[in-house]
This record gives sequence, C-alpha cells and structure tokens, in this order.
Amino acid sequence: MTHMQDTIIEAFNFRHATKRFDATKSISDSEFNTILESGRLSPSSLGLEPWKFVVIQNKALRNKPKEISWGAQGQLDTASHFVLILARKNVVAKSPYVQHLLREVKQYSPESIPATEEKFDNFQTGFHINDNERTLLDWARKQTYIALGNMMTSAALLNIDSCPIEGFDLDGVTKLLSDEGILDEANFAPSVMVAFGYRETEPKPKVRQSQADVIEWLE
Ligand SMILES: Cc1cc2nc3c(=O)[nH]c(=O)nc-3n(C[C@H](O)[C@H](O)[C@H](O)COP(=O)(O)O)c2cc1C
Repeated sequence: MTHMQDTIIEAFNFRHATKRFDATKSISDSEFNTILESGRLSPSSLGLEPWKFVVIQNKALRNKPKEISWGAQGQLDTASHFVLILARKNVVAKSPYVQHLLREVKQYSPESIPATEEKFDNFQTGFHINDNERTLLDWARKQTYIALGNMMTSAALLNIDSCPIEGFDLDGVTKLLSDEGILDEANFAPSVMVAFGYRETEPKPKVRQSQADVIEWLE
C-alpha cells in the first residue's frame, strides 16, 4: 500500500462515533474551516447544493435541544464545534433558489436555461423525486449526508473526532429552531447533526462485516 492508501485507511479506522469529547480542547479555526469546506465542496444531485450548515457554538443554545436529542447527550456539551445540517425544501427547476443558482452562481447563459429546467424536471419526475413535498425533501436530505460523510472523513484525516447525530426528535427540534428564529421553515428543514472535537477516551475496536459479506464482484 502507498503512504496515501495507508493514510486513508487509518483515517477510516480512526473515525468512530464519539460519544463524549474532551471539553477542554478546541479545534483551530483553520482546521474547522477545512472541515466546513469539505462539506461546501461536496457533490450533490444535479449540483443543486440543497443544504445549509449551521454552526452552533452558543452554549445556551446548545443546551436547548438536549432533552429532545437522545443521541447527543454526551456530545452537545463537550464538542468543540457542533453543526446542524439543514436540507433545502422545494428544490425544483422553477424555484427562486434554483433560478438564482443557475443564473447568478453557475452563470448559465439565459438561452441554456429552458433546456436545463427541462432536464431537471424530467430527472426529478423519472426518479420520483418530485412526487410530493416529502419525496423532494428526502432527496435533499440524501445530499446533505454526502456532505456529512465528507466532513467526518476530512476531520479524521486531521485527527479530529466526530459523531453524526440523527438521534433527535425531528418535530421538536424543528419547532425549537423555528421559535429561536434560526430556522426559516418555509425553505429549510433539519436533516442531520454532527459534532466535532477530540475524544475523551479510546473507543472499542471497530467491528464491520467482511468484504465477502458486503461486496459482490461481477466479472
Ligand atoms: C446518520 C447517522 C446517525 C447517527 N446518529 C447517532 C446519534 O444520534 N448518536 C450517536 O451517538 N451515534 C449516532 N450514529 C453513530 C452510529 O451508531 C455509528 O456510526 C455506528 O454504530 C458505527 O460505529 P462507528 O461510527 O463508531 O464505527 C449515527 C450514525 C449515522 C451514520
């Protein structure tokens, strides 16, 4: 194995779902920015980046979802950085958001926009993405998990620990964030949380199914 291959496999073995972090240690601004960049630069279906990363550093605010977040009991208080990833709602070709992305961000020429819209519509229909609001939101949520994975891998490459968190009452957290004025419910919904920091204790050895159990080669 090359040095790069070793580094990658070591990072995947290093990463574990950290239950408690050493609260005295902080991630540097520069390293945390690298983690955020690996989220922002992640791929997404149709390149529509249906996400927003909310970094919750305010201690009082972090405490609020604690009683409705069973999966974040040790992480909310101790993580150096805590991120809530939001998924964008109603990501369809004619939406103001997609129009902004195509015209202002990606700078598509005005003449090419109708064909792009048609391509997006056909794909979303064929893949049952735009059957209803729920299927559209689930599709956006899937994209946020790609960013989640990339952020955790980048962190591990920097010897930074993390924990993905789905263990929360979705409706309760939605209401809480909305009441706090953090969540624009018309355009976003909570997708997944992720805590970053430095482990307090060593984890148990990693257990996974074998390659033979999960990989099938057709030759
Ligand atoms: C999407 C997702 C959500 C998860 N939610 C939680 C959670 O709420 N709390 C927690 O402690 N672990 C959570 N986990 C961690 C998993 O339980 C863990 O990744 C799995 O058991 C494998 O262990 P390892 O990551 O330490 O290798 C989550 C993992 C994923 C991928």
